[in-house]
Amino acid sequence: MNPLRIRAFAPGRANLIGEHTDYNLGLCLPFAVEQGVTVTGELRDGGAVSARGLADDDPYLVGVASELRAAGVDVPGCAVQVESDLPREAGLSSSAALSVALALALSGLAGADPLAAAELAKLCQRVEHRYTGAETGLLDQLASILGEEGRALRIDMRALEWTPVELDLGGHVLAVLDSGTPRSLAESGYNDRREECRRAAELLGVDSLRDAGDGSGLPAPLDRRVRHVLTENDRVDAAVEALESRDLAALGELLDASHRSLRDDYEVSVPEVERAVEECRRAGALGARIMGGGFGGSVVALFPPEADPPGGALVVRPAQGARLLC
Ligand code: GLA
Repeated sequence: MNPLRIRAFAPGRANLIGEHTDYNLGLCLPFAVEQGVTVTGELRDGGAVSARGLADDDPYLVGVASELRAAGVDVPGCAVQVESDLPREAGLSSSAALSVALALALSGLAGADPLAAAELAKLCQRVEHRYTGAETGLLDQLASILGEEGRALRIDMRALEWTPVELDLGGHVLAVLDSGTPRSLAESGYNDRREECRRAAELLGVDSLRDAGDGSGLPAPLDRRVRHVLTENDRVDAAVEALESRDLAALGELLDASHRSLRDDYEVSVPEVERAVEECRRAGALGARIMGGGFGGSVVALFPPEADPPGGALVVRPAQGARLLC
């Protein structure tokens, strides 16, 4: 029998390192944050799915309901209420959190068996691709679904395998500072970067840039794009090692190196983001970098115990992933 009422929560995510690697089937190191989206759903007569806190024709609501139906889930008529304590458009993946929470609530109301993590993430990714036009990878959805308290996740996007990594920062904190420029993935250069990577892989004769040995023979700027992806994959494993050996100075240097690569080789930074990075450095950060899709959004920075993150920065801690609350 279908439950009459259900609540689902899905967190946003921070990405410690491994940016613009997911759709190149590379490595990333995200974690779910404490803040997220809660969806309460109640069965209603008739087949319609209506919403409070969201327009009835919101692309995520429409998209999640129809992708679930296409996957064979008999989404019943219902009313959903959406609440969030995640800042929107700030690079913490409020949209992935919304679609994951909606998918959990609607499939729960349908009485369907829970989807496996990778399947649920791909379903929510299809919603991004088909209903918002943003050709995102799987980073945000997987981080929201798989999050664990106290741990980040090293995700290998080619194998679709993940390994928890203790995020023991010994009194240091990670904080996210909004640059104040809203990010619009679909309208920004995000899809252009994906296209450049596709083109580079084609010219190199590989299925994805994960398999690219070296991009130095490619025409500019494709050579720089490939260099970013390859060096960023290496930085993910170097960050895992730095965490395992509690070498937080090394972790800070890797964040800085990631930022330089995203700014100079991948060219996804903007002046407001550069100012936010500078502000974090002035406040004593050991390292700071643009986080997420770029062209605005947030910066993530590592602060030692004696430093105070700048005003307005949000301290982020690894928290449990998406779940049904009742
Ligand atoms: C956005 C996308 C992700 C990922 C990052 C960049 O957050 O949604 O899939 O590509 O940008 O690492």
